[in-house]
Order: sequence, then structure tokens, then C-alpha cells
Amino acid sequence: MEGWKLKLRGNMAIDAQGHLHIAGNDTVDLARRFGTPLYIIDEDLVRDICRQYRQEFIEKAGGEVLYASKAFLTLAMCKLIQEEGLGLDVVSGGELFTALQAGFPSNRIYFHGNNKQPDELKLALQSRVGRIVIDNIREIDLVEQIAESENIRAQVLLRVTPGVEAHTHEYIKTGQIDSKFGFTVPNGDAMRALQYALTKSRLIVSGLHCHIGSQIFDMNSFGHAAGIMMQLLKDMKTQLAWEAQELNLGGGFGIFYADGDTPASIASYAEAVLQVVGQKSAELNLSRPKIIVEPGRSIIAEAGTTLYTIGSIKNIPGVRTYLAVDGGMTDNPRYALYKSRYEACIANKADQPAEELVTITGKCCESGDMLIWDIALPKAESGDLLAVACTGAYNYSMSMNYNRIGRPAVVLVKAGEADIIVERESYLDLIRNDRIPPRMQRQ
Ligand code: LLP
Repeated sequence: MEGWKLKLRGNMAIDAQGHLHIAGNDTVDLARRFGTPLYIIDEDLVRDICRQYRQEFIEKAGGEVLYASKAFLTLAMCKLIQEEGLGLDVVSGGELFTALQAGFPSNRIYFHGNNKQPDELKLALQSRVGRIVIDNIREIDLVEQIAESENIRAQVLLRVTPGVEAHTHEYIKTGQIDSKFGFTVPNGDAMRALQYALTKSRLIVSGLHCHIGSQIFDMNSFGHAAGIMMQLLKDMKTQLAWEAQELNLGGGFGIFYADGDTPASIASYAEAVLQVVGQKSAELNLSRPKIIVEPGRSIIAEAGTTLYTIGSIKNIPGVRTYLAVDGGMTDNPRYALYKSRYEACIANKADQPAEELVTITGKCCESGDMLIWDIALPKAESGDLLAVACTGAYNYSMSMNYNRIGRPAVVLVKAGEADIIVERESYLDLIRNDRIPPRMQRQ
């Protein structure tokens, strides 16, 4: 407990009063202005990470970087990603619609998903997205059909599962053989799918896609997957006289949430991948495909902080102290789903030493509604503000309305400015789609 301090990320600082500041904004003021719970996004940190990706993969290597929008997507986020020169990975009609509404260039959108619906594919093709990442045979037929009726040719990638075991949580590991995603490589499905896709006159098969998992620290896993994919490209060239222009290696770069996480640098990620691709293309006599990566978490996670107000405090002597905040699994379901770990501080006492070990819980009627088990904090009182760090990814995007709790607002902060980019959900928002059947209204 002694000396434990929150890692200050991006543009975080602590002022003389012990208040946590983010990008020149006192979090105590932000709580007063916008209420809590509040998602706060540090704009310059997002931009800085985008630039690192752009430099390593686009400028140095002629590749492409697609922001995996499932991590966090709003209209303003689309604008930011566009300004930073990255493309976008979407996985649903809703994500696609958001990007299109924001005016994101459709030719830089890649459409993913293991069960894309005909209407989603139609929207994608009508809006001329850059690529459809085809996941299964049904989609080959559907895309061909829709492209035919639109009288266009669709550029597609085929998603394959290369059989790489990435060391990460079971549910977020997707590259292994037993996966709902993509065409299996070892049993020949991937080769047969390509052969079939090549018979379709409306499809231009530009390359392959794989994604081996998420929150990966071992850069060798990425290198290993790249090697397997290059060998597959070689086999495809030999057997079907087809050469890929693009190789999309998915996302998954791991970041620091809490003690024990050991992230690599984006430069070493790029090096691990590009070195293998360079070496294999020489060794296998293949032209070097354009390398695409799809980071989600690593672009937005560390830029996000959730600010809560501490309400009830329950001390069970000799057992544990629960600090309950005014949000919980509804705005951050990641502990409930994955037992994810987070760091936090008391935002109005950020300079005070840790004094007690406490457990942070939410306000839902559910024992699994936990945010952090065992964290060392200064003595907390009701009304204090709790800032949970690193909540930018998969928090807002996976938030929910359990117990009819509205989603928090999202505020984008930069150099002393703070702008709402998503309004807080009101009680009226919660009943907006409810209907009472006329027969119940008769009396
Ligand atoms: N590309 C594909 C095809 C993906 O499936 C994913 C994530 C990404 C890119 C982005 O991966 P990232 O860079 O964010 O690791 N809800 C979970 C994470 C699920 C990730 C699903 N796919 C969580 O909260 O940890």
C-alpha cells in the first residue's frame, strides 16, 4: 500500500490542492459542470497515439492503420480519426452509419463481422466502403449478389483463422482454430474459400485478414501470425495463381491497465510484424503486400478516465470496506465480463498517500457489479470523486441500461477546454422506445 500512486497518463497532472487535472481541466470542476459518472477523453493523447501508428505503419512502411471503432465510436471520434489520417474498421450497420453520418470517407472504411446482414451489406456497398472483410461462404454469395444488383465490383478481403494462440483472456482470443470467425487455414477451408471467391465476377479479392486476439503483450505472437499468413499467401499463389495486394493483421496490441501489464512500444510492434513480412516475402519470392493493422484499445483506452462520486461506504470490520460509486457495470462491464483490473485515485485527494485497502463497487442490483477489488486509496468520504483510469476502450461502447440506469455523458478535453461529445442519457431517453399496447390504455 505504501507509496502506491496512480500512473499519470497522457495529459494528467495533480495541482497544489491535490486535484487531478486532465488536459488542463480540474476534474473537480468537470464533475461540477457535467455531473458524474462522466467519461473524460484526453484528445491530445488519442492524437499522439494515432500519430505513432501513422508514423510506424503508414509513413515508414506504406501500410494502412484502421481504428477499430468497436473500442469507442461517436461522431466526434470519427472526425478525430479522420483528421489523424487513419482508416476505420466497422462491424455493424450502426458503426457504419455513425461513420457515414460523420462524413468519414467511405473508401477508408473496412466492414467486418461474422454474420453481416443483407441490409448491412447493402448499406456498405451502396455507400462504397473500401473493403468488405468476408467471413464465410454465405457472405461470398451475398456480396456477389448485392454487387451485381448495384452494378459494381466489390473489393474484399477474406478473413482467415491462422491457428495462433495468443496469450490473453479466453473470450477475447479469436485466432485459434475453434473460433466463430473466418475461414480455417489448417483444414483447407481458407484455400477453398479463395478458390470459390475467385469464380465470382463481382468480387475483387484484394487480400487476407486475420486477428489473433486482444490485449497482447508478446510481439512474437504478431510476428508468428504474420509468418503463417505469408506462407498461406505463398501457397495461394502456387495453387491458385493469385497474389494478395493487402495483408490485414488485425488489432490486439496490449496496453497498461494496472500493475503486471507489460506493454511493448508501437515501434517494436511495427518492427516485429514488418521484419517478418520483409523476410518472408524475400524468402518465398512474393511481392510484399501492403500491411494493415486495426488497433482499437491501444488508441483510446489510456485516453479515457471515468469520474464517479463516492456515495455509500460500507465497512465490515476485519473483512472489507466497500466504496459504492454512482455508476458501475452499466458504464464499465469489463470486470464483470473479464475480471479486468483498473487503477484509480480519489480525484480531489490525488496528492494524499494511500491509507486503506478498499473495494469499489457500483450501484446495480447485482453482486457481480464490481469495478475494482482491493485498491489502496487515501481515506475516502461520501462525496469524494473517484477517477478510474484507462476506461477509454470498451467501456462506453459496451455500456448498458441495466436497472434503467442512463449512460453517462462523454466529454472531450484538450488544453483547458472541455466539450460534450455524447450527452448523458435522461430518464426520457430511457423510455423513448417503450410502447403501451392500446388494449392496456383502454381503462
Ligand atoms: N480487428 C478485429 C477483427 C477485432 O475483432 C478486434 C477486436 C480489433 C481489430 C481490435 O482489437 P484491439 O486493438 O482493440 O485489441 N470487449 C473486449 C475486447 C474485444 C475485442 C474484439 N475484437 C474487451 O473489453 O477487452
